[in-house]
Amino acid sequence: MRAQGLTLCYEQRTVATDLGVVIPDHSFTVIIGPNACGKSTLLKALARMLKPKAGEVYLDGAPIGSYRSREVARRLGLLPQSSTAPGGITVGDLVARGRYPHQRMLRQWSARDEDAVAEAMRQTGVLELADRPVDDLSGGQRQRVWLSMVLAQETSVLLLDEPTTYLDIAHQVEVLNLCADLHERKGHTIVAVLHDLNQACRYASHLVVMKPGGVIAAEGHPSSVMTAELVEDVFGLPCRIIEDPETGTPLMVPTARTRHHPAPGTVAHTP
Ligand SMILES: Nc1ncnc2c1ncn2[C@@H]1O[C@H](COP(=O)(O)OP(=O)(O)OP(=O)(O)O)[C@@H](O)[C@H]1O
Ligand SMILES: [Mg+2]
Repeated sequence: MRAQGLTLCYEQRTVATDLGVVIPDHSFTVIIGPNACGKSTLLKALARMLKPKAGEVYLDGAPIGSYRSREVARRLGLLPQSSTAPGGITVGDLVARGRYPHQRMLRQWSARDEDAVAEAMRQTGVLELADRPVDDLSGGQRQRVWLSMVLAQETSVLLLDEPTTYLDIAHQVEVLNLCADLHERKGHTIVAVLHDLNQACRYASHLVVMKPGGVIAAEGHPSSVMTAELVEDVFGLPCRIIEDPETGTPLMVPTARTRHHPAPGTVAHTP
């Protein structure tokens, strides 16, 4: 998948001009960048949810605009940054909606559909929530239900906009491990927006760093891309990059804030 010369706008606001990005086939691509730089906008353009003012997105070699909608939905699934479920819908029914692109007119719900839905719910740990209304769930449970719906779509390309938001740390790791499995075992192409730079470096086979103005500041393997200079330039955050003791990937440690002098009368504790 790749995008070339994209100009991305919302009515009056231009988010990016001449934006180009390559998503290597079968990669686990992670997009990082500060708030409002245009990550979600890029993902929407890649998923054909936003029509570029100029430029083109290519999917499997052909302009994405040349596919029928159902064909795009069979190849590519998008987890948006925020979604609203239809009022009163249950978890099972919402996840089942992921199967729509696979159903032909007049064709009945099949055992194949049933299996895909059950498997997607199992993978995200929401099987036991199947009969609960989505409205009644916690933020983290809801996030996993939406992810489950995208997985039920069984596409070889998954575009995930902050799939770990609302999740506790254990569930974050679980979801990222699941993505890594889909990437390694099934050869799926994963594109995820993440805010945790250290998770990004651990999981990405390809890292895309975006700057304000929808500018790609760097892309490549995390070990060559992630430097203290880049983080300072893109996020304005002074930091050190050390080696992750667990994986050997870059680990970003923000510089400690300079302490103010202790207020008069307080006792300084010395180790
Ligand atoms: N529907 C919209 N209409 C108008 N402007 C929008 C719309 N959605 C986003 N924007 C603007 O476009 C710019 C890029 O937004 P985008 O959502 O792509 O940022 P982001 O990098 O995903 O940020 P975050 O990390 O906060 O999710 C921002 O200035 C935002 O205010
Ligand atoms: Mg966003």
